[in-house]
Amino acid sequence: MLEKNQIVEVDIIDLTHEGQGVAKLDGFVFFVDNALPGERIKMKILKLKKNIGFGKVEEWLSISADRNQDLDLTYLRTGIADLGHLNYPAQLAFKKKQVETSLRKIAGLTDITVADTIGMDSPFAYRNKAAVPVRRVNGQLETGFFRKNSHDLIPIEDFYIQHPEIDQVIAFTRDQLRKLDLKPYDEKEQTGLIRNIIVRRGHYSGQLMLVLVTTRPKIFRVETLVERLTTAFPNLVSIIQNINDQNTNAILGQEFRLLHGSETIVDTMLGNEFEISAPSFYQVNTEMAEHLYQVAIDFAAVDSEDIVIDAYSGIGTIGLSFAKQVKHVYGVEVIPEAVADSLKNAERNGISNVTYVCDSAEAAMQNWVKEGIQPTVIVVDPPRKGLTDSFIKASASVQPDKLVYISCNVATMARDIKLYEELGYKLTKVQPTDLFPNTHHIEVVGLLEKRN
Ligand SMILES: C[S@@+](CC[C@H](N)C(=O)[O-])C[C@H]1O[C@@H](n2cnc3c(N)ncnc32)[C@H](O)[C@@H]1O
Repeated sequence: MLEKNQIVEVDIIDLTHEGQGVAKLDGFVFFVDNALPGERIKMKILKLKKNIGFGKVEEWLSISADRNQDLDLTYLRTGIADLGHLNYPAQLAFKKKQVETSLRKIAGLTDITVADTIGMDSPFAYRNKAAVPVRRVNGQLETGFFRKNSHDLIPIEDFYIQHPEIDQVIAFTRDQLRKLDLKPYDEKEQTGLIRNIIVRRGHYSGQLMLVLVTTRPKIFRVETLVERLTTAFPNLVSIIQNINDQNTNAILGQEFRLLHGSETIVDTMLGNEFEISAPSFYQVNTEMAEHLYQVAIDFAAVDSEDIVIDAYSGIGTIGLSFAKQVKHVYGVEVIPEAVADSLKNAERNGISNVTYVCDSAEAAMQNWVKEGIQPTVIVVDPPRKGLTDSFIKASASVQPDKLVYISCNVATMARDIKLYEELGYKLTKVQPTDLFPNTHHIEVVGLLEKRN
């Protein structure tokens, strides 16, 4: 009989989609952090449920050839780089396999060829955005990352996968908050002022945006803070306060106040300039997002007669990349600030053949169907939960020639593809693209074509 705290020897036989090692023993399936297929370990049993268990590596009896032994394991503990212990070629292969497995198991597709994952030359320091919690640790205001599955802050200065200038802004802001004696948020007591620091950096422009998330409107000596920040970082063109007074895990509250400069920063993608405001979504890895969009453009193979729908359009990055090659782009996005950005971005890039609406994709798709709009290509880029059945049915009912599905969650994508296949579409191409190196997250583009 297996028991909690018992030490047992096991072989790691697989990796879960979240990058945990899998072992089997006495009818139990165990999940183990920081353990790779091919490794034999001494495992301490942490928890046992009906037929699954959780374990921790006590000792490695053999090490996988795919292990990256250089990683500071703090990143693994925090979840910042939860796949960083696997070397990069093996990460790319792992992601391809995850896509194949989901398409087979969830969508029931056995004959689909998944292309090799497109990876980065240098898979570090790629993030253009960071949102870090501010808490008190050992009596001092700290910035860092939460220990995996907890809200215990581990102070960190080098975030490994973020652009180093973002790390510098965070550390400098932390130091100034300490000097000005501004109080960090205390989740348990629901006291304190500073909850989070968010920094965005334009990959090409180098422009910086800082968002200070606070529990209350008043920030003591805010002018001094702003002056010190802008003196240290002249490229900090936007400083914004966001007020979140709710006891919630959501980072942003409803209210934004401009503290310095502009409401937006500007960056470039595939040759177009984009204004990005604080609440708008913007892909965190610009270099790889350009590859991703290029795959979508190549899959769509549009011409000047095409009418394209850009659903879940954010600030218009995808639709505006298509616009100059097609007749018209219709976009929909639910965040008003992002829609406002997309309209400004169209104008900024001299693009007039686009219509962006602020609505849910489901409602907009139904409206477009009613209005008789006949798209030839529909591009979808939904959040992790994927599409709704009503969106899928409405989009298939207008019979576009092609549907390009961009996804950050292969499980929901596979579920949605199953329905598209039932509605007369065939998945013909699949391209994973590594937007999130050293983490278990997968980005993938699929091409669905109308069956004759
Ligand atoms: C993965 S992002 C993609 C954004 C954009 N295509 C890009 O590449 O930057 C998903 C977007 O969908 C938006 N969104 C979430 N739910 C939505 C819904 N029900 N209808 C429309 N947009 C939604 C989010 O605000 C976000 O901007």
